[in-house]
Amino acid sequence: MRTHRIASLLVLALLLATTVAGCLGPGPRKAPPHTLVSRSIDGIPSSTATEVVRLATGSSYRLAARPVTHDPGLGHPIRMFGYNGQIPGPVLRMPQGATVSIEFRNELTIPTTVHWHGVRVAAAFDGVPGQSQPAVEPGAFFTYQVTAPDEGVFLYHPHVREDLQQELGLAGVLVVEGPRAANETWPAERVLVLDDLLVEGDDIAPFWEDTPNRVLMGRYGNRFVVNGDATWEGNAAPGERVRLEIVNAANARPFRLTFPGASRIELIALDGGYLADPVETASVTLAPSERAIVDIAMPLSGGVEIRNSPPGIASAQLGRLLVDGSAPMRIDPGAPAGPHRRAADSLAAAMSNALGAPATTWLLDLQLKEPLPGHAGHGSPPPIEWDVPDDEVNGPTTPDSVRWLILDKATAADLREAVPSYAAGSYVRVVVENPASLEHPMQHPIHLHGQRFIVLTIDGQPTPPQSWKDTVLVPAGTTATILVEMSNPGTWMVHCHISEHLEAGMEGYFTVT
Ligand code: C2O
Ligand code: CU
Repeated sequence: MRTHRIASLLVLALLLATTVAGCLGPGPRKAPPHTLVSRSIDGIPSSTATEVVRLATGSSYRLAARPVTHDPGLGHPIRMFGYNGQIPGPVLRMPQGATVSIEFRNELTIPTTVHWHGVRVAAAFDGVPGQSQPAVEPGAFFTYQVTAPDEGVFLYHPHVREDLQQELGLAGVLVVEGPRAANETWPAERVLVLDDLLVEGDDIAPFWEDTPNRVLMGRYGNRFVVNGDATWEGNAAPGERVRLEIVNAANARPFRLTFPGASRIELIALDGGYLADPVETASVTLAPSERAIVDIAMPLSGGVEIRNSPPGIASAQLGRLLVDGSAPMRIDPGAPAGPHRRAADSLAAAMSNALGAPATTWLLDLQLKEPLPGHAGHGSPPPIEWDVPDDEVNGPTTPDSVRWLILDKATAADLREAVPSYAAGSYVRVVVENPASLEHPMQHPIHLHGQRFIVLTIDGQPTPPQSWKDTVLVPAGTTATILVEMSNPGTWMVHCHISEHLEAGMEGYFTVT
């Protein structure tokens, strides 16, 4: 009894002290005290290995989001979130055209949803809270009917506080498999989920429960993470063709991947679409939420490195594929042709509508409540900020001080309020303008829900190779033109896939009727 009273008095004193410090504490700006998201690992179960789950049409699968402890390569476990306790979440593989029921349960203490990124699902299952569904409250269930009309690599992630929930581990891959002819040899497929974590001391840098932060430039990490670990290693036979299904699950960072040691690198697909033909390449750039299928031909000995090699900054090894010298040498049969043939037909059919398609221009904008302390402002921005150090300019910015917006250029209206409408079956040329004149110009990966599009040009220059995409990286000071196939009825979101920009208002809606 007595010790209890002393303990309560101590708690009270502590509370008073922290409140006083929060209000009167030193510092250039009197920020209101923020509630920190719990980092305690007491009683939290540890993560389990990522599973591969094959879902037949008509099947149901249970998926839960819950806190787990996981070691993302720090040498000790920290508190994270996992789908079914896994980081990344289970790899779901389903046949093209199938419908599966995902019985989702929220076992977090905060609301969440699941968004099937790039999958042209029915609007009711798109996972946008307040638009397609109410957020799934802690302890509640929601059943998603996921229909997959397109073959390719997709991802699923929350659509509530992505800056926090996705960063803590809620992201998984969905692979939709098209028909595979008996005479086609499929390379071994390996899924790679790329991420970066911002580590401070021995934990991930704190999140505020009441508001996102770092919204000016986004939360760039200082540690790379591949499939939930600090590095990744695989094996393959000499000469073997290996198919990498790569997803960028970072909040803000774009990756530029290189594969030193490979005897051949072929780009097979970008986002949810195959290229009309495999294209030999030296590097692959992936903005947040973008995907690529890359085929690597193994050398006869040694191995292949997977590196992040952005121009102008130090490159880093993310993982490696080692030649298994005991395995017999393989002759590369080339990439299976079926998906490319189907893509070529569908891309050509859409491109025949490009010229006559009406155009609309969306303008990216930045509004600051007060000047950024110590920020040099515009000048000539790099087209892409490949890395951003965690600093005092970016750190404290919140949606209260920084507003990122998408405007309809013709009317200057915010796309969250003035919602354009398009007829189902029509094609629209959407021009996305990212002015260099903004107070802080930077690249934005712009993502459209529910539809697919082809990138026609960046700054007037054609951008081969083409594929069906759902996200386009618009470098600072450039204009991207995309051809959107308005195929899926509903009201859909368009937004920047830098999580912190989305939280700061960089979103809008459009309707397909
Ligand atoms: Cu992957 Cu609206 O997002
Ligand atoms: Cu952005």
